[in-house]
Amino acid sequence: MGKYQTFQYDVVVVGAGGAGLRAAIEASAQGAKTALVCKSLLGKAHTVMAEGGVAAALSNVDSRDDWKVHFRDTMKGGKFLNQWRMAQIHAQEAPSRVRELEEWGAVFDRTKDGRILQRNFGGHTYPRLAHVGDRTGLEIIRTLQDKGVHQGIDVHMECTIRKILKDGDRVAGCFGYQRESGRFVVFQSKAVVLATGGIGRCWEITSNSWEYTADGHAMAMWAGADLIDMEFIQFHPTGMVWPPSVKGTLITEGVRGEGGVLLNKDRKRFMFDNVPEMFRGEFAETEEEANRWVAAVVANKLPDARRPPELLTRDVVARAIRREVREGRGSPHGGVFLDIASRRSPSEIKKKLPSMYHQFKELADVDITKDPMEVGPTCHYMMGGVRVNPETQESTVPGLFAAGEVGGGMHGSNRLGGNSLSDLLVFGKRAGEFAAKCALQTSSFGSCDDDQIEVAARECLEPFDESHGENPYAVHEQLRTLMQHYVGIVRSQDDLKHALVEIEQLRQRAAKVKVGGNIQFNPGWHLAMDLSNMLDISEAVTKAALERTESRGGHTREDFPDSESEWGKMNLIVRQEGRDINVSRRPLEPMPAELQQLFNK
Ligand code: FUM
Repeated sequence: MGKYQTFQYDVVVVGAGGAGLRAAIEASAQGAKTALVCKSLLGKAHTVMAEGGVAAALSNVDSRDDWKVHFRDTMKGGKFLNQWRMAQIHAQEAPSRVRELEEWGAVFDRTKDGRILQRNFGGHTYPRLAHVGDRTGLEIIRTLQDKGVHQGIDVHMECTIRKILKDGDRVAGCFGYQRESGRFVVFQSKAVVLATGGIGRCWEITSNSWEYTADGHAMAMWAGADLIDMEFIQFHPTGMVWPPSVKGTLITEGVRGEGGVLLNKDRKRFMFDNVPEMFRGEFAETEEEANRWVAAVVANKLPDARRPPELLTRDVVARAIRREVREGRGSPHGGVFLDIASRRSPSEIKKKLPSMYHQFKELADVDITKDPMEVGPTCHYMMGGVRVNPETQESTVPGLFAAGEVGGGMHGSNRLGGNSLSDLLVFGKRAGEFAAKCALQTSSFGSCDDDQIEVAARECLEPFDESHGENPYAVHEQLRTLMQHYVGIVRSQDDLKHALVEIEQLRQRAAKVKVGGNIQFNPGWHLAMDLSNMLDISEAVTKAALERTESRGGHTREDFPDSESEWGKMNLIVRQEGRDINVSRRPLEPMPAELQQLFNK
């Protein structure tokens, strides 16, 4: 180990978005010596892409809201595959986590009587999203960053973790490299919290930036942990489609929450034709009723009409947009129109959606106070992730915890907008708390033996091998195109089988990628290493998608278009066994009667 830079901590948190920051704050507050390690600069995280708000039943705008309604909405949104206990804890604890943020300095928008303002979002029965204009995630990161830095947590920036190190069955630390110097680094620790976010860079059109290369999902799987719900990918309905350089950039659901409507090229509100059976009766059936709802929301009154169908869950809206485009009713650049200009005054739009106003003005030369936006689905969020204990967030590997997007089970087959921010606060805190308890109860550090580290270091250096010749960027681009077209919003057996064959071929090419230069700040080398995460996790997603022969939430099979009650009783688990990535079925935990009766009503 002498060759490497080494550190020793009770708890190492990998990833410094909202979940990582919240976990590190809690672990350190419990008295654990804590490090926060992130591959990017502190504060640069996908958390900021949750723009429209954090979901919590504060009941500030509609007093009928409470944790039970939030729980019910979350389970319905996930089509009942969610781990019910996680959904319950989440709904019960989210209000305290939001109020705590306010105490730590987050400046939320306000109701007229000075309480935290809440807005409507897809799948939420009542206005539930506490927000800061359309920059909520950014404000949450800013607040947590301030809190964490002042608490004295050690931060290691621009450091990528590649492997979990183990001593026997349990975690002994992790191994990685400093991006700037290329120097290898070993963190010896009693517990590791993964908070690495998602896997969006495996797809061509995505709201995720360069960091989201499936690192945590892959490291957990390689370390022997179970992954759950890997077939479920969320395509956010509204990403930019034009110009090409910004394709996929997120347009917040807050636009629809504030009354924005979706139109096809004939200016028809096609969402009225797309209300699934499960949601019938909950949404407005005529434009007149939907307009009454908007008028009431604009006037800050409680609506006496049902919600507009633009506020259906994301899986439903994304599929409907795809259909309009496929059937020739799309906008000029292959999307549909999202119109807020005809619903809200220019000053309201600039006040409630300032980032959207600037984003379109600067990137697309469109004034959204006058003209509609062109929008289409963009890969946004991974519902699947590390299977954890709902109370502690510990994975099936002792000492390895996961929180935020890399954790699985909370959202089932589809996540409701705004539930990501509340998820990362609630389960970030719990992961930090229980990782600290685990570390403080463990008397000595596990041994990070030299062999494990040598193997990891050798693998990292393979792309410098003179005999190699493949271009890592070309392999990555082909993987993204493949996943977009064959493992996208709608899948089929033939497409998924084709994808598996191609992934294997890409894996063989990835083993031969070559990079020039040296280990000092070398993005080509970083990408070359990331290919192994992305390929293994793409395979996990594709195999799970092939196994689930039904359609549900963020997994639609054109050859099995309906949801099947038998499939509604089980999750799929992905596990690495030897070199193989295998999928197995796991029955859902039965929901207790007192929660079950919430649905009977
Ligand atoms: O549309 C949005 O503002 C995104 C929110 C989320 O993903 O939770």
